[in-house]
Amino acid sequence: MISILKRVFVAVSCLLLSVACSTSETEQSQDIDFNKGWKFTKGEVTEAINPSYNDKDWQTVNVPHDFSIKGPFSKENPSFSRGGWLPTGKCTYRKSFTVNASEKENKVFVYFDGAYRNSTVYINGNKVGYRPLGYIGFQYDLTEFINFNKENILTVTLDNSAQPGHRWYSGTGIYRDVTLKIRNKTYVPNWSLYVTTPEITKTKAVVNATFDLKTEFNQPQDISAKINVLYKGDIVASKKVTKKVQPNKNTSVNVDLLVENPKLWAPATPELYTVQVELYNNEMLIGEESTRTGIRTLGYDKDNGFSINGEQTKLKGVCLHHAGGPLGAAIYKRTIQRQLEILREMGCNAVRTSHNPFSTEFLETCDEMGFLVMNEMFDEWEVVKEPATIQDGKKVRIPVKYYADIFKEWADKDLTDFVLRDRNHPSVVMWSIGNEIDQMKTDEGVPIANRLIDIIHNLDDRPVTNGLIGYGWDAWPSEAAASTSDIRGYNYIKENGLDREDKIAPNAMGIVTECASAQSYYPRGTYLYGDEKKAWWDKLGYKYDDAYNWVEQRGLIGYRGVQAWKDIKNRPDIMGQFIWTGWDYLGEVIPFGWPARSSSFAPIDLCGFPKDGYYFYQSQWSDKPMVHIFPHWNLDGMEGKKVTVYAYTNGDEVELFQDGKSLGKQKNNLDDVEYQQWDVIYQPGNLKAVSYKNGKVIAQDVVKTAGKAAKIKLFVRRANLKADGEDLVYVECTVLDKDGNVVPKADNIIQFDVQGAGELIGVGNGDNMNHDSFQASERNAFNGKCLAIVKSLEKSGEIYFVAKSPGLKSASITLEVN
Ligand code: GAL
Repeated sequence: MISILKRVFVAVSCLLLSVACSTSETEQSQDIDFNKGWKFTKGEVTEAINPSYNDKDWQTVNVPHDFSIKGPFSKENPSFSRGGWLPTGKCTYRKSFTVNASEKENKVFVYFDGAYRNSTVYINGNKVGYRPLGYIGFQYDLTEFINFNKENILTVTLDNSAQPGHRWYSGTGIYRDVTLKIRNKTYVPNWSLYVTTPEITKTKAVVNATFDLKTEFNQPQDISAKINVLYKGDIVASKKVTKKVQPNKNTSVNVDLLVENPKLWAPATPELYTVQVELYNNEMLIGEESTRTGIRTLGYDKDNGFSINGEQTKLKGVCLHHAGGPLGAAIYKRTIQRQLEILREMGCNAVRTSHNPFSTEFLETCDEMGFLVMNEMFDEWEVVKEPATIQDGKKVRIPVKYYADIFKEWADKDLTDFVLRDRNHPSVVMWSIGNEIDQMKTDEGVPIANRLIDIIHNLDDRPVTNGLIGYGWDAWPSEAAASTSDIRGYNYIKENGLDREDKIAPNAMGIVTECASAQSYYPRGTYLYGDEKKAWWDKLGYKYDDAYNWVEQRGLIGYRGVQAWKDIKNRPDIMGQFIWTGWDYLGEVIPFGWPARSSSFAPIDLCGFPKDGYYFYQSQWSDKPMVHIFPHWNLDGMEGKKVTVYAYTNGDEVELFQDGKSLGKQKNNLDDVEYQQWDVIYQPGNLKAVSYKNGKVIAQDVVKTAGKAAKIKLFVRRANLKADGEDLVYVECTVLDKDGNVVPKADNIIQFDVQGAGELIGVGNGDNMNHDSFQASERNAFNGKCLAIVKSLEKSGEIYFVAKSPGLKSASITLEVN
């Protein structure tokens, strides 16, 4: 009977809403995908709270949805350079749905993983909650307001109009997953299931599961809970407990389960187990809750840094933003996977969620791919940040309207929910309660830090850090405040700062929470010599001279990133570093102002194309043999002049050849942090770098002077998509000459045509000064490359993707959707 009812419910919802519904395994616990079929309009439409309001003229959208990313970029937008000059404001969403009368005895909840921001949720005209922070997940109980067997209207209003609202682009909208949950009146409350692995040996592991049982029946319920541990779908450990669950009182359960020969979770072997709780009443299955876990030992040591399963592991990390380039904040699982794949190939093993909660999907993907996460909550406590910004050529400080004004009211609740939501992820190896928090400069930070740390310690046993600024810049944070953290978080520390720390806090554990990574502030593939440089800056029209100095000082080779790694590489006590940032992101365009609309700190541009700095990290962080040389070799106007050519390699020697003639070998001391350089007289032709290890060739890299643009090359990391309307393929386009050489300055406009079982949802090229919309059917190549993002439809078939450009041979690719 129950299964029939479930099918009726799902079918009715799908029919009425034309949404794809997915349910969990158990009959009475249903998690229904609520992402499809929302109505949307800009502006706050208060009448839309009324169920009878007619929204037929509103746009139909699916979530994840971010209206800001559509643009247009404008100097008039109050989000300003901080928000990438994109529009913000208020908006309203509505969703109509039906719940079958057979669910009348059940509970109905709605869960949002994030809605940016100041969300108010109404069901059938009744307000069920308000949540100011846009990055936090929240759940509301809808049960008492549901009209069973009739239409229900969920209305969500968002207000992101106070601008600049954050120090970078946030996006605006319901930009993460929404789930409708049906539960029996006796259930495991949201986020109460908590799994740890207190004992691990080679032959056995103890998996501990704790959770609450709650009933909303008036009578006590005799419940038996069966707790299973599953590996790849098979039960490997199981236990049953029985409890009398009293009304109005949480009953807690705590069980140890023994897993024989556990498969350990580690970056190279991200083995996952599922812990499932089945609830039975009189032998009848009434509900289920589950979570994933990884069996692994985490170690933190003042002398030896961080270890996993006893193996000392340096965190080679990047700070990331939650948004995903051309898609803005409305990203999909595939966006995250691709980001992490490209970072992994750089040698990166860790991510800092700077500086706010990320999506559940992000952490799930880190669990699956073996990334280590510093899970960070706050960018502001009680004092507003006033970041430096360039406006009309002048440096100004503009306060951001982000969190400080609500910290006192919301911080404890937001932090608690953040830890409860994320604590089962094996990828999370430490928590962070802040980034460059003003109050940590003085003892004023002590009681606040202690309060926040206590909240975390009461919910989880992983250590807490806090990224403080000041070390090495002669404005040290308060020692009392710094010592509140389990692991000291050093932003932009220099060698003298680390030496000082060794003296004043010899027993403290430490990690470089953030460091100057910037490999070059010039956009990807941009090398400027002679008059070209002046022309580039003149075109930007900066009156602000500092921008030029700032960019030039960082230079091509990214001295600051090199130095930051050198400072800690051979200090085993420092657990690792997180460079600012892994990928370029929208907003925070310093040192630029308009027309820049995205940052340029990262070794990877906004579209995922590596810059030279990417290969610096690869040479230091990865064991895969590599060598990379730059610049490209199309330096018109430089004939007969000296050009410095650089190499990054993980070989111990590298030799450069110009048109076949050796320009000499250079040593690369692998115990230190080095790169190589040669002064070369430019002439069209080719350069080849050959890297050696112990006298054997391990890798080579060639740059050639390319001829005229002649054809397009397409590259995809995979050609199969799921027919779920949410899977993506990123098609990378490169412009080549007739002989197949990359044309490094090509800017041809490339038109995309997508037919069949997919649609084009975004384009981009990594140029941080470009104002064309990311939602278009064409994009010019920027320094030889551009990107198209294709999303599957909810049907199987093929996608035919064609890239054309006048005068170039077009390219096409067929993708499979199943
Ligand atoms: C850091 C800050 C980051 C980012 C960065 C830009 O000091 O912690 O959030 O703003 O500067 O350089």
